[in-house]
Amino acid sequence: MRGIERQTSIYLGGVSGGRPRVPVAFAALEEAGREAMSPEAFAYVAAGAGSERTVEANRAAFDRWRIVPRMLRDVSERDLSVELFGRRLPTPFLLAPIGVLELAHPEADLAVARAARAEGIPMIFSNQASTPMERVADALEDTPRWFQLYWSRSDEVVESFVGRAEACGCSAIVVTLDTTILGWRPRDLDPAYLPFLRGKGIAQYTSDPVFRRLVSEDAADGGDDDTPEPRPALAALRTLINLTRAYPDDFWATLRSGRGRAAVQRFVNTYSRPSLTWEDLPFLRERTRLPVLLKGLLHPDDARRAVDAGMDGIVVSNHGGRQVDGAIATLDALPGVLEAVDGRVPVLLDSGIRGGSDAFKALSLGAAAVLLGRPYVYGLGIAGAEGVREVMQNFIADFDLTMGLAGCRSVDEVAAEALVPA
Ligand code: FNR
Repeated sequence: MRGIERQTSIYLGGVSGGRPRVPVAFAALEEAGREAMSPEAFAYVAAGAGSERTVEANRAAFDRWRIVPRMLRDVSERDLSVELFGRRLPTPFLLAPIGVLELAHPEADLAVARAARAEGIPMIFSNQASTPMERVADALEDTPRWFQLYWSRSDEVVESFVGRAEACGCSAIVVTLDTTILGWRPRDLDPAYLPFLRGKGIAQYTSDPVFRRLVSEDAADGGDDDTPEPRPALAALRTLINLTRAYPDDFWATLRSGRGRAAVQRFVNTYSRPSLTWEDLPFLRERTRLPVLLKGLLHPDDARRAVDAGMDGIVVSNHGGRQVDGAIATLDALPGVLEAVDGRVPVLLDSGIRGGSDAFKALSLGAAAVLLGRPYVYGLGIAGAEGVREVMQNFIADFDLTMGLAGCRSVDEVAAEALVPA
């Protein structure tokens, strides 16, 4: 559904007393998301690193550009499609990889997949998803999907994840590089809440044959750490039950064998690899024929080096301000990265996209596409798949109308001359 249809359906609904279930304006959307989720879940989604200056900076950067609309250009027909890696996509939006979606809604990734399928918007599966990628892939049918990888300490697990992603039809691998260590997030530290330690957001691992073998080996070794058994306090028991549910086996059998807890311990020991360097990239390059994008690059030299290393794309991202407090805003980083890349590979952008005009500005400056993040998570929390769908429809409509009103008939016409500094 494009801009005018979406707009009209909302206004017509209003004539008979209806209102959009999912608020349109971001501030109201976020507030409704907060009400729909538990306090810990909302904090986890909304959190930025430190004093959240980069969360603010991402927004402020969009505000430093203004669009100069052009008139009398016959914008009655508008083409929102973009081409990426030889495939035409209906709009320049993709769904960013977001982990632990079960915090927002029990249907989690499956609900997002149903919405993505309904709107034809590509979904990027998170390495920290709540649902194994194969199940989400089934729900997507023929909608494009990419896989986002966190490069774990075990190359074997990396290889297994990438193989599974290929087998379930992913058409690109996105390696997220800005989170080899978890950022310092006061909103999660104060309630002492990290979902992974409670068995949430580790479904790609617990469904993985290599990871499961490693867990069994740990169990055979009597565990590979000195962590004491959980005390039989009520809170500990609740956590243990959650952990066990994360392991997709018979619930009580898993509880008795202690494998739920072993899986989390193994995950903690495996998931991040702060020692990762440029020298590791050939390992991945040699193991997949899919396009590989690096997500989280902000410096022009890193971008240049990525292209030289045979990478196929870049996602300029600061993880929505969740990693380095005070990091450069993505829209500010974009021009330098584009100059370094010099058209050799597509450059995508995320972090702070909150409406159609933000997407328009990013594309005007040269981004090939943009990733939607927190807004769709709030839609998910409010109304499941339907909520995600409404958020996507609103972004697409807003972008479509902004493009037309600015005098552009296609994304190709969205270019730097449309912008001036504020
Ligand atoms: C993320 N992001 C993320 N990125 C990634 O590569 N793998 C992941 O598993 C996650 N998980 C995740 C969880 C939550 C709750 C959030 C908010 C974000 C980062 C995400 O892909 C994207 O870069 C940001 O969400 C973009 O910022 P905005 O637009 O959401 O502010």
